[in-house]
Amino acid sequence: MSGNPDDAIDAPPPLAGHGRSAAGPGRRAVLDAIVGAGDKGEAIRLLEQLTALAPEWVAAAATFRKLSNAWHFPMMRDAARNQAYAAALGKAIAPGAHVLEIGAGSGLLAMMAARAGAARVTTCEKVVAMAEAAAEIVRRNGLDGVVRVVPKASHELRVGADLPEPADVLLAEIIGDELLDEQILQATLDARRRLLKPNARLIPARIASMAALAGGEALEQLTSVGDVSGFDLSPFNRFGGGKLNLFPAVPAFVLLSAKRVAFRFTLSDDQFRPAEKTLEFPAIADGRCVGVLQWVRVELDDDFAVENVPAAGFVASGWWPILHPFAAPTTVAAGQAVRVRAAHDLTSQAFRLLD
Ligand SMILES: C[S@@+](CC[C@H](N)C(=O)[O-])C[C@H]1O[C@@H](n2cnc3c(N)ncnc32)[C@H](O)[C@@H]1O
Repeated sequence: MSGNPDDAIDAPPPLAGHGRSAAGPGRRAVLDAIVGAGDKGEAIRLLEQLTALAPEWVAAAATFRKLSNAWHFPMMRDAARNQAYAAALGKAIAPGAHVLEIGAGSGLLAMMAARAGAARVTTCEKVVAMAEAAAEIVRRNGLDGVVRVVPKASHELRVGADLPEPADVLLAEIIGDELLDEQILQATLDARRRLLKPNARLIPARIASMAALAGGEALEQLTSVGDVSGFDLSPFNRFGGGKLNLFPAVPAFVLLSAKRVAFRFTLSDDQFRPAEKTLEFPAIADGRCVGVLQWVRVELDDDFAVENVPAAGFVASGWWPILHPFAAPTTVAAGQAVRVRAAHDLTSQAFRLLD
């Protein structure tokens, strides 16, 4: 293959002999940096602005669409997620309640809050195009008298300007595949400090990242290489080890341990700190372990929880499991205690094989 077609079309002309533009490392690198930063909502917001400023930038427009539609559609159709949120809202919303939502998306959960009896729902959405779509959807469904969509990030909201008074309930589904990548901890703390009544209900109340050891031919093929066409390619494995989002379909895998809670957060806590811990996974079968499968558990309250327990194939879902491969596959035996170092920095997680 000869270079990336986006580079060929989009990159500014290189300086003679240097392969870089006078303006910087090139448009492709700008897109990579935005997408690679890991916060999907923020990436979509920035790409939307770039597309408005430079409509001729084909790759930015394509990345904007790809990033925004690829995961929203199956998320909106995730029946288990939607039912759990509807049930928790039905329980939490007292007559006359004012609900603040962070992250409207299509407006679906805000409309559920209205249907559950909220007198007022203020929902904010940092991607302006999505806020416009949500406002249209709310109008179309006859709920614009109850639900107000504010086209802003939650940290830009002000009581008195964007919401008449602090809210009784905080509703949020700003939970990424890696649990923390949409900055739910930071956004919740900020909302609790400035935008909610004391003792406001939080939905979800707790969130957790779940982990288990996994192996199998398909996962190994995705993450490492050995003999190919009679050639030993194994030195190429030095480039392996990066985490892999198993979107849009989970490959066949072999579960090699029971699941463990990696990290769990109570959203009414007053502060959150980066953390590291050692997780011990007793292996339940002999096999070659490729790494840690990680997924999310969202506890809306004490009764309703939703968890995207990995299953092979495509399931419409709000979340996809992530494979955190070890530096190289390792052989495990049933009964063996496999120790893994887990770390999070309030936004992302990492898992490393010990021993
Ligand atoms: C996972 S989607 C959920 C959408 C919708 N609430 C639902 O559950 O169907 C999260 C949405 O929140 C937006 N978002 C994330 N963090 C935000 C923040 N701090 N303020 C406003 N919008 C945010 C993202 O742009 C995205 O559209």
